[in-house]
Amino acid sequence: MTKYWKISASQPDIHDLVEPALILRQGGLIAFPTETVYGLGADARQTDAVLKIFTAKGRPADNPLIVHIANRSQMEELAAAPDEAISRLLDVFWPGPLTVVLPVKPGVLSPLVTGGLATVGLRMPDHPLALQLIAASGCPVAAPSANSSGRPSPTCAEHVLDDLAGRIDGIVDGGATGIGLESTVVAYTTAMEGREAVLDILRPGSISIEMLRAALPGTLVRVASPHLEATEAPRAPGMKYAHYAPRGAMTLVQGQSPERVLARLQRELDAARARGERTGVLTYREHADALRADAVVTCGSLGDLESIAHGLYAALREFDEAGADFIVAEACPEEGIGAAIMNRLRKAAADRIIYV
Ligand code: TXA
Ligand code: MG
Repeated sequence: MTKYWKISASQPDIHDLVEPALILRQGGLIAFPTETVYGLGADARQTDAVLKIFTAKGRPADNPLIVHIANRSQMEELAAAPDEAISRLLDVFWPGPLTVVLPVKPGVLSPLVTGGLATVGLRMPDHPLALQLIAASGCPVAAPSANSSGRPSPTCAEHVLDDLAGRIDGIVDGGATGIGLESTVVAYTTAMEGREAVLDILRPGSISIEMLRAALPGTLVRVASPHLEATEAPRAPGMKYAHYAPRGAMTLVQGQSPERVLARLQRELDAARARGERTGVLTYREHADALRADAVVTCGSLGDLESIAHGLYAALREFDEAGADFIVAEACPEEGIGAAIMNRLRKAAADRIIYV
């Protein structure tokens, strides 16, 4: 049975958190909101507890989990002291949607959390309810997104229950999440003989490359290539799995002008309909009236990329509800959070992209 608690996200009553915090401490699984997406939490020190996360989600065991903490002293217990550049990022962006990969202290966390790596991804969420729950549990909380592996991440409690009801011990419902995309994951490499210091973005998120560059002038900030040599272990192992996929096959259409993109979207939709397929299109407020499909799903406005991020995963889930088997999606601009939106859309489309 999955227990359910409805709790205020901004002013959580600590008494309401006693039971979910205790379940975490005793090795259970609790889903909870953060400012990005809902997480599926377990005590990161208990292997039995962490194993339940992988089982409930159907997640590959070599994909490491982010560990959520409530304060900086918890970080010192888990990881080596961060470089000056990382400390600066933490001063600017924590609590917030930034995960930093640091050398892990041996023997403190379950080896399942780190997927056999010598590092751990740490994050302090900017969400009063999440912070209070973590603090009350007294645990470092391993928490991937609280969806079944391969489904879009959950941005409200209903999404979590759709995927995981009966498979987890409880869910704390704090309403819809704000940002709607998972945190930015970064790893820092210090300058060495002739090589400059580098900050690699392992997963783009709402903390954009522009924001990271502004916070670290003089450091090379770059997006790590997802195309790794076959012999090389992936740096963020999550990158190699198909993600966020709606059930129908999705194709992304990107182009030089909105007119060309809209024309191509409609042509693909018409062709699919002629083949007898149930069609869906992901578009934005500005273009919703220009497209015809069985399911026209509107996700935010092109004039406000944050609104697209906020609604993206709910929009992808709508295609499943509509039973769409052929889906096309309109690309959005790649500046700021747009880079993270396009990263998720490419994954949802399994790299099927049409350029016009
Ligand atoms: O916003 C978020 O980050 C959400 C909420 C719940 O906090 N959590 C989340 O966790 O998205 P998860 O486990 O779904 O994503 C973990 C990502 C994966 O891409 C994984 O490969 C990478 O972080 N990662 C975790 N630990 C790592 C490590 N030690 N080194 C490199 N990448 C790591
Ligand atoms: Mg995930």
